[in-house]
Amino acid sequence: MTTALNSGATPTATEAVSSPDGRIEAVLVLTAGRPAYSISYDGRPVIEPSTLGFRFKDDPPLLGGFVIDAVERATVDETWKPVWGSASEIRNHCNELAVRLKEEGAAERVMTVVFRVFDDGVGFRCVLPEQPGLGTFDIVSEETTFRFAGDHTVWWNRNDYDSYEHLFRETPLSAVEGANTPVTMVTAEGLCLSIHEANLTDYSGMTLVPEEGVPNSLAAELVPWPDGVTCVLGSTPLVTPWRTIQIGERPGDLVESHLIQNLNEPCVIEDTSWIRPMKYAGIWWSLHIGKESWHEGPTHGATTENARRYIDFAAGHGLDAILIEGWNTGWDRWGARGAFDYITPYDDFDLEEVVRYGRERNVAIIGHHETGGDAADYETRVDTAFDLYNRVGINAVKTGYAGSIYPRGQHHHGQWMVFHYRTILEKAAAKRIMLDVHEPIKPTGISRTYPNMMTREGVRGMEYNAWSEGNPPEHTTILPFTRMLAGPLDYTPGIFDLTFDEYKPDNQVHTTLAKQLALYVVLLSPLQMAADLPENYEGNPAFEFIERVPCTWDETRVLDAAIGDYVVIARRSGAGWYLGGITDEEGRTLQVSLDFLAAGMHYDARIFRDGTDAHWETGPASVDISTVNVGAQDTMTLELAPGGGAAAHFTPVITEE
Ligand code: NOJ
Ligand code: CA
Repeated sequence: MTTALNSGATPTATEAVSSPDGRIEAVLVLTAGRPAYSISYDGRPVIEPSTLGFRFKDDPPLLGGFVIDAVERATVDETWKPVWGSASEIRNHCNELAVRLKEEGAAERVMTVVFRVFDDGVGFRCVLPEQPGLGTFDIVSEETTFRFAGDHTVWWNRNDYDSYEHLFRETPLSAVEGANTPVTMVTAEGLCLSIHEANLTDYSGMTLVPEEGVPNSLAAELVPWPDGVTCVLGSTPLVTPWRTIQIGERPGDLVESHLIQNLNEPCVIEDTSWIRPMKYAGIWWSLHIGKESWHEGPTHGATTENARRYIDFAAGHGLDAILIEGWNTGWDRWGARGAFDYITPYDDFDLEEVVRYGRERNVAIIGHHETGGDAADYETRVDTAFDLYNRVGINAVKTGYAGSIYPRGQHHHGQWMVFHYRTILEKAAAKRIMLDVHEPIKPTGISRTYPNMMTREGVRGMEYNAWSEGNPPEHTTILPFTRMLAGPLDYTPGIFDLTFDEYKPDNQVHTTLAKQLALYVVLLSPLQMAADLPENYEGNPAFEFIERVPCTWDETRVLDAAIGDYVVIARRSGAGWYLGGITDEEGRTLQVSLDFLAAGMHYDARIFRDGTDAHWETGPASVDISTVNVGAQDTMTLELAPGGGAAAHFTPVITEE
């Protein structure tokens, strides 16, 4: 459906709001009663007038016939401290405009469009307040469109309703077939834009499809219920998630932005002392490469004995936790309804003993609830399952939804599941449990409100290298500017035996070892895995970097980047800085100014870089480790091998006066 918005009719009304720095402007235009919005940056159009509104199953659509009924303006300026993340302090500074639209005529239904305009982008959403003419309804389509000002270059992941585990494609906007968000683009002038949503709470996930008949435009397409028609079961008062447009002059601006988090409610957990970022190892990669099995048998991974071995390894290297998959019965009944009860351990696994053994060594256990997609059954068992973890002393759980969803026909990204994921998160918060969700709904900043929502998958992660053609070297140079804009990702880096020929001669990881180390700085995850087998780490001096690197940060700066080619990120923790630089399949030499270091200070830089013969295919393990003395005035040369990377830790040198 195409709606003509600027066909010569005189606008009946406009309301505009600018960012605090005045560079971004959002405008609501009412043309012959039809609402549209547009966005500009430095006076140049970013989003041309684009439609807003809803179609319902039974009620008449809310699309036109409006007059402006009321206008409210406000300014938000606050600074808040996240429990973990890419920065220790976040400023939430924006100008808000709320335009209340009222239908003329008998029904007089009301819809308010709210804009929040920040220096780094715009969020807008529709509010359907409680009113006589609108009670409960089925939304069959949200008529939001994004009419871009040109045929930009786009990085997009296809609009699968059940999975974000695809590779990104880079195409002109005109070739986008349908995408999950974040969708990131760069204009011919180099302006960087990313479309996503924030505060997805009781609504279905938004995908983007080409708008019929309008070039360079994407239209919202909501993930449907099983009937394929209804997208949102709603009732007034209803607020949609924020539709977000991040705007930056460099790709790094998108990464440094906190717009998505700022469009969420403040933390509702009073005492957050139990929420802590952790580095973890685990009985996991062994399962994916086929060394061990999830289910009981001769190669069962989750035995008491093996768990003790992982705990000893973690304790010996300062890791905080270990994850144990395959500890509970049900893996042999994969796919059956109610296959898992989440409380019965396999005979060769003593849950309490493992937790006790870990506690004595200061190593926490991360529990595991794989549902196989049976979310309905999980809802009936999760209280008991969390109670068990509470009783034995486990306060972090990885959940998983690998498989089609029960109830059948529901999608991972539809409203029913959005509500399910939130229900589990709220239950976890009440029971002081941190979550790492696999096959999740995409992050939309909800960790601000529930910081026990630590990390999640929703990405084509390391596991694909174990059993598929794998992830090409460029994959991780795209992720920071797409999926990671939404929130942390449990990519599970840190594979040292990159070819694992003993187990899977035909599979391999398509990076060098130094690039694996760099991923700890590039990819944000407050639960960050050291994914390889302990025996592949023991005795390898490069593990020192994983021991050193934190997984929560005081400050983040993207030093250099070209989306899909390379990225260099520096992150600060206390007085120390960490740097991660990665490249795609091209080897390249990058000059990086160290001017992020404190002026006048000396630092020991411990550097882990590709060896001279390093190459993801022919020499992945070749790594060089050195220490040099540097300062803010210096430049560092990063020689990155094909599929390579570099990682560094800068420690201030305290000189005795
Ligand atoms: C898929 C997840 O991504 C992976 O991490 C997990 O090991 C398996 N499901 C089994 O739960
Ligand atoms: Ca997965």
